[in-house]
Amino acid sequence: MRILSIETSCDETAVSVVEANGSFPHARYTVLGNALFSQIDIHREYGGVFPMLAKREHAKTLVPMLEKALREANMLTPDERTLSSAETSTLMEMLVREPGLGDTLISFLEQFGEPDIDLIAVTTGPGLEPALWVGINFARALATSWNVPVVPVNHMEGHVLSSIFDGETLPELAFPAISLLISGGHTELVLMKEWGTFERIGETRDDAVGEAFDKVARMLGLPYPGGPEIGKLAAEARAAGIETPVQLPRPMLDSDDFDFSFSGLKTAVRYAIEKKGADKLTREDRLGLARDFEESVTTVLLRKTMKAVEHHGAQTVIVGGGVSANSYIRESFVSLFREKYPMVTVYLPPRDLSTDNSIMIALAGHAEKDSAEAPSHLSTLAADGNLALGETSEK
Ligand code: KG4
Ligand code: ZN
Repeated sequence: MRILSIETSCDETAVSVVEANGSFPHARYTVLGNALFSQIDIHREYGGVFPMLAKREHAKTLVPMLEKALREANMLTPDERTLSSAETSTLMEMLVREPGLGDTLISFLEQFGEPDIDLIAVTTGPGLEPALWVGINFARALATSWNVPVVPVNHMEGHVLSSIFDGETLPELAFPAISLLISGGHTELVLMKEWGTFERIGETRDDAVGEAFDKVARMLGLPYPGGPEIGKLAAEARAAGIETPVQLPRPMLDSDDFDFSFSGLKTAVRYAIEKKGADKLTREDRLGLARDFEESVTTVLLRKTMKAVEHHGAQTVIVGGGVSANSYIRESFVSLFREKYPMVTVYLPPRDLSTDNSIMIALAGHAEKDSAEAPSHLSTLAADGNLALGETSEK
């Protein structure tokens, strides 16, 4: 089956075409087309993601991404036709809240024939609701026009699948597995006893780890998104042997649970900067703070994940979400698990699938389609900004 997947939960507009041969999770996958537009440059000016701006950019970029993915998949066939006025008004009505998208979609549909797609997968949460809705309404419009079913996808489930996907297949996982999901909006430890079951055993009590990276970066005068910027400074500090000007805390390192807290760590960086005076902060100070911040985060993430592995006798660890692109976190997980728990297999996403993408949404859509529930009725699809893992939102 051929799956068209759509991701618009945050600041990436992504569309893919993935062919699945076989049933989930034993299928062989071929990525036929993959298009992604990152809005980072647009949001950078404002130092973060603004939901309404993200929404507008998604509406502008979805059709070009659809066209690019289909072209790459060799599924774009020129075919001039005129939509009936009934069809036009149905589509315009579905996209009434997404300015400009109705017109560009209709002009696309009048230029190109119906592609051979069996299923549309779309992210319905978690994420920024105005942004999610653009993808959902777009999926509904395409599904109506092409008469193809739609499945709602949980974005975080996508991240889990991203981490274990080797480009063609999904591995035979040894259960129980522990997933550590670290992104701009999430920090959680999830126990998976088998495919498709997700039990959250720990989470952040305040900031998500990616959010902390972004906020600390901002304090250090670095551009958005701050994660990769902090990573660069920290690596430079490590290579040059530069230490932190003040020791930062390791929050909740020994707490008797699987929870996290990063807002105190962020505040500790602010105090360190204020104590010295922001204008007197040397480059060395900034390097040292970036390094200690990254090491604090890594130490806490590792300690809590190891504790969860021991407590639940896990045989597999899956690290996913945008922050798992961080080199220091990646290397630390691999080397510490190899040393202390060599029987545990650690999965990390390939770097290009660490941050948001639509290939992971196609995989999760395939899982959803092969689960007990039938594809959704179009009218019940709904965005849910706070959607929990293991759930797909429907009205
Ligand atoms: O999963 P993602 O792309 O979007 C969400 O679903 O939130 O994650 C984005 C987050 C941002 O906070 C970004 O700063 C962080 O991932 N990030 C990183 C790195 N690359 C992205 N954090 C640390 N090191 C990185 N190399
Ligand atoms: Zn994400």
